[in-house]
This record gives sequence, structure tokens and C-alpha cells, in this order.
Amino acid sequence: MKKVNNIAVLTSGGDAPGMNAAIRAVVRTGIYHQLNVFGVMYGYKGMLTGEIFPMESKSVANIIQRGGTVLKTARCKEFYEPEGRKKAYENLKKFGIDGLVVIGGDGSFKGAQKFSQEFDIPCIGLPGTIDKDIAGTDFTIGFDTAVNTAVEAIDKIRDTADAHDRLFIIEVMGRDAGYIALHSGIATGAEHILIPEHKTNIDDVIDHLTANERRSKMVNLIVVAEGDEFGGADEVARHVKDRMPQLDTRVTVLGHIQRGGSPTCLDRLVASRMGYAAVDALLNGTTNVMVGIVNNEIQFTPLDKAVKAKQQIDPEWLKIVKILAS
Ligand code: F6P
Repeated sequence: MKKVNNIAVLTSGGDAPGMNAAIRAVVRTGIYHQLNVFGVMYGYKGMLTGEIFPMESKSVANIIQRGGTVLKTARCKEFYEPEGRKKAYENLKKFGIDGLVVIGGDGSFKGAQKFSQEFDIPCIGLPGTIDKDIAGTDFTIGFDTAVNTAVEAIDKIRDTADAHDRLFIIEVMGRDAGYIALHSGIATGAEHILIPEHKTNIDDVIDHLTANERRSKMVNLIVVAEGDEFGGADEVARHVKDRMPQLDTRVTVLGHIQRGGSPTCLDRLVASRMGYAAVDALLNGTTNVMVGIVNNEIQFTPLDKAVKAKQQIDPEWLKIVKILAS
């Protein structure tokens, strides 16, 4: 087993609430095990430019409750080129870094996987993304906060929809995954939830809205994942307005508010457990894995599997949507 002495932590890709709690856990667990811990600014970009600095216990004081990431984040194209990774490796070596914790989504894991295959620096990934589009874990850091933000916003929309008897078509984030839409849609009693994982029959949506109109059900909420086949809420609204011009239809795109805010208790817990487990893994000589939580147990998944095998949507969930909206 190789002894690890100096570890670095970075956040990469889109920020997610709870990333700070994960950084805190990595730093404090590392210090507990008498490791030197370094922070890398702006994700892989900071590895390339050498923005690397030592962190102490107090560097992560007062951040557990904060959204965003104190280490900043970026999407770095150069790191996906061999020369970029070589430059990053040389910078890590200057600081004697022999273990890396990457907090990010699937794009960041692809980079980490390549890097740890090419160079002798063990990498551990922590799933930090609001999209929850990673296999090998029941939770990703940030999803719970994002989905609760969406629920709060949709509840507010329901009030005004009710006051005016309107149909609201609400777009939520998720890139090419439908988890935020599915969870927030069920939790707010949406009539329809349109997600990329499931083919939507627009005729069914129109038939259902027509039936609702007949029985004078005037408040209708449709939650659309941004990656849905129709291309978002505006496109869905165009279809509905063409076929049902009599409905008073409005569109709301929730956007980046879903990425910000103080992390929920669940996200702080998940981040703290995962950050602790990441350092443990490095000390045990583990490399090239993502830390997940499955059935409340810490589980490790090879980075390539976490990236390739997206989580599957249980068809039972879609059945629930249909039954509860009838
Ligand atoms: O991956 C997180 C995410 O918020 C996605 O849901 C969304 O598609 C994307 O990032 C937005 O990226 P950007 O902040 O670069 O516009």
C-alpha cells in the first residue's frame, strides 16, 4: 500500500449546494489523519495554472451552510487534452501532492479517470451535481437542495395559477436527466412531468388538459425537464397554445436559482459522509473510484462505471404521476 501524505481537493463543473460541506469534510478528515491538505482553485483550470494553496482547519470554518464553492469552479477544456493533464500533473508534483479528491459531475469524473490512469496520483470522485445523473449512488451532493428550491418555487407558482385559473408550464434544470423534474413534479402535484428518459405523447397531454377543462379543473401545472425531447417549456407551450388557444398559459423557467442557496440538512450530511470516506479511501490505497451512498452504506464505484451507467428512472414513478394527476 502506498502511503499518502499530501492530498488536494477541488470542485469542478457546475457548482452544487453542499460542495462546501464536502470540502470541509475532506480538509478536516485529512488534517485529523495528519495529512497536508491543499485546495485547488477553479477545478482543473487551477491545476493547470498552479492555483494551489495549503488549507488548514480554519480555512473551512463557517462554510458548511454556504451554497456555491469557496474553491470556485470551472469547466476546463484544456484538461481533456494530454498536454493539459501533463501540465496539471507537473503542478501537483511541485507541491508533492499524492492524492486527489475531485468533487463534480460526470464530466469531471471523465477527466479524473484519464488523469489517474496516466499518472501515479490516486483520484477519488465525489458526486457533486444537482442533476443526480450518476450511477452508483442514491444521492448526489446538491440534488436535494435544488429539488427543494424547485418545489418552493412551484408552490408559489401554484398560488398565482390558482388565482387566475391558468396553466403554467415550468422548466427545471437537469441537463439531459429528468430527476429534478420528476421529484419536484410529484411533490407539487403536477398534472404532467416531461422528462428525457420517457417519450412524451403530446396528444395524451392535450387530451388530459381537455378533460380537465371539461370538469372545470382550471389550475394545471406541467413540469418540463430542460433536456426533454420538446426542447424545454417554451416549445411545450407552443404546442399547447396551438391546440388549446382558449387556455390562459404561462411559462416559467426556474434557471440558476436551482443551483444556489444554503444546502439542506440531507445535502450537508451526504457531503460530510462522502468527504470523510474519500480521505479514508485514499489512506487505504483506493483509486479511480467514486464514493457513493447506497442503501445508507458508503459504496465505491469505478469512475468509468459511474460515468457510463446513468441512473435509471423506475417506471413505477411514472405510473404514480399518471394516477395521482387523474
Ligand atoms: O449540471 C448542472 C447544470 O445546472 C445543469 O442542470 C444545467 O443544464 C447546466 O448545469 C447549466 O450550465 P451553466 O451553468 O454552464 O449554464
